[in-house]
Amino acid sequence: MNQRSIGVFDSGVGGLTVLKALMRRLPAESTVYLGDTARVPYGTKSPEVVIRYSLSNARLLMRQQIKLLVVACNTASSVSLPALAKELEVPVLGVIEPGAQAAVQVTAGRVGVIGTLGTVNSGAYQQALAQARGGLEVMARACPLFVPLAEEGWTEGEVVEAVACKYLADFEAFGADTLVLGCTHYPLLKGAIARVVGPQVRLVDSAEATAEAAEGLLRDGGLLACAGAIAEHRYFVTDLPERFAEVGARFLERPIERAELVDL
Ligand code: DGL
Repeated sequence: MNQRSIGVFDSGVGGLTVLKALMRRLPAESTVYLGDTARVPYGTKSPEVVIRYSLSNARLLMRQQIKLLVVACNTASSVSLPALAKELEVPVLGVIEPGAQAAVQVTAGRVGVIGTLGTVNSGAYQQALAQARGGLEVMARACPLFVPLAEEGWTEGEVVEAVACKYLADFEAFGADTLVLGCTHYPLLKGAIARVVGPQVRLVDSAEATAEAAEGLLRDGGLLACAGAIAEHRYFVTDLPERFAEVGARFLERPIERAELVDL
């Protein structure tokens, strides 16, 4: 059982930021990643459609005998976890709860959240933050243009800073002391976002917090791989494997030799 892989899915390449954190924290764990590149983006779709896509992604990963499912996509995490947990016989971990927990550890009380339209409209971060600590002031904004900018590799420079200024201006008036990067792609824009919001705002990246939570779940369930095990990493995509490997290498900060094309 312990030598089974951790399954991870996202709407595309973005979830590789979460995979990168998992690989760093749990080097003995094998992983199988599914990027739903045929149906990306999820952030502009309805909750019903995102839940349907999430279930089909999870079924494919379950056929790979996974021991834990990590939903790396914030949009999918914000609406699909109850349906996934009901159907799957392995633990399911999303990125929102760990991100909210990480934010409450550093905030003085005013938290900004940025994500896709779907994530922001779902209210999932707002709810998770309120549950993690009562009395927090939370303001959430959708920043849809950040996703294509990150995929194009436009992570620095005047274009991204102009877009960031426009999206993030309200957080200054709100007095945010912490900003949750509630989308898989945003950690790539961390430098530009930090410059725009200023050094007084702490940026919280849910990828690291999710990897920590995954470790805890595996440990509690007696599911950790043996220390020193040789980890294997496999990639599945629903469209354009070459583009996934090319763009994905930038998100993962290591080469992706092969991605297998699958039909869901
Ligand atoms: N992976 C998505 C998220 O974290 C961003 C891209 C999309 O809209 O599918 O919300």
